[in-house]
Amino acid sequence: MAKSDTNHDQRIVSPNDVDEKETGEEKSLRPHFLKEYIGQTNIKKELSIYIKAAKQRGESLDHVLLFGPPGLGKTTLAMVIANEMGVHIRTTSGPAIDKPGDLLSLLNELQAGDVLFIDEIHRLPKVVEEMLYSAMEDFYVDIIVGQGSDAHPIHFPLPPFTLIGATTQAGMLSAPLRDRFGIVEHMNFYQVADLEKIVGRTAGILNVSILESGAHEIALRSRGTPRVANRLLRRIRDFAQVSDKKDIDEDIVKYALEHLKVDNLGLDQTDIKLLKTMIKYYDGGPVGINTLAANIGEETDTISEMYEPYLLQIGLIKRTSRGRVVTNKGYQHLNIPVPDKKGR
Ligand SMILES: Nc1ncnc2c1ncn2[C@@H]1O[C@H](COP(=O)(O)OP(=O)(O)OP(=O)(O)O)[C@@H](O)[C@H]1O
Ligand SMILES: [Mg+2]
Repeated sequence: MAKSDTNHDQRIVSPNDVDEKETGEEKSLRPHFLKEYIGQTNIKKELSIYIKAAKQRGESLDHVLLFGPPGLGKTTLAMVIANEMGVHIRTTSGPAIDKPGDLLSLLNELQAGDVLFIDEIHRLPKVVEEMLYSAMEDFYVDIIVGQGSDAHPIHFPLPPFTLIGATTQAGMLSAPLRDRFGIVEHMNFYQVADLEKIVGRTAGILNVSILESGAHEIALRSRGTPRVANRLLRRIRDFAQVSDKKDIDEDIVKYALEHLKVDNLGLDQTDIKLLKTMIKYYDGGPVGINTLAANIGEETDTISEMYEPYLLQIGLIKRTSRGRVVTNKGYQHLNIPVPDKKGR
């Protein structure tokens, strides 16, 4: 994730997972099987067919690539797939695999059918990526040992395994790597009804009482993202507890989120700053993402991975060939009169 001087993981609506990792709570909230995994209906339907077919043939599942913004449940889905296949899963991430030897030791531990999950697969070093090609296609790797005239390849056969790759950046993956995945799934932001179910499920696990109106209000403000929904619920639980509220209802959600400065669409101060900067300094756009990033003091990657996807999804901004533009809806959300310009 991109670095900058502000800590985005302090954002209550950040789709990143720092605080949950620390408490270990994220782990206990993860669904284990497809039937508990809420939403993403088409993906579940397809995967259940591929899983069933692979099991019937007694083969490993084809390699799976999961695309999608942070916090939508890619890691969770990888674990669900391994559970459904009844195999072990080893998890790692692109930046953690420095050199071919690291990959070889991971591959070496796999048993037939196991899943190797590589998060942020677009950040694999090139030499490691190239080594994956033969591992994925023909289940072997060749490693060069020795130096100079002594150098010779050693051939390592591997058991058949399933690589599951996850990435937030569809465009960053090289074509040869992408083409080696038989199953490619694009994850979308969740519908409000699905987020309500996720909030209800999490409330059950955390043993907090929540009314439908409360779950609905949280769902509306969760940026289509289960991780954000779960995080908002935990914070609202604190507000409810200290205000002696027995149940989480719409009122306590609104009260808590006003304190947390999360608006009725789930936008926080940085989203608002981004939109206002586009309007104030660039006349609503078009403005290039690099210019915008420099202007609000953020990394370009942070904007394109963490802020922009949701703003695009809810139609407050749009992409044009000349840059980003604030839409009419964007102006209206900020209560700023729409200028008399074409193409918004
Ligand atoms: N479909 C779902 N049903 C129920 N809970 C979910 C679902 N998807 C995700 N969650 C919950 O949301 C949280 C985030 O999910 P997860 O860590 O899998 O996201 P991710 O896409 O891997 O994010 P990142 O890109 O940051 O790695 C988890 O705590 C998980 O319990
Ligand atoms: Mg993850």
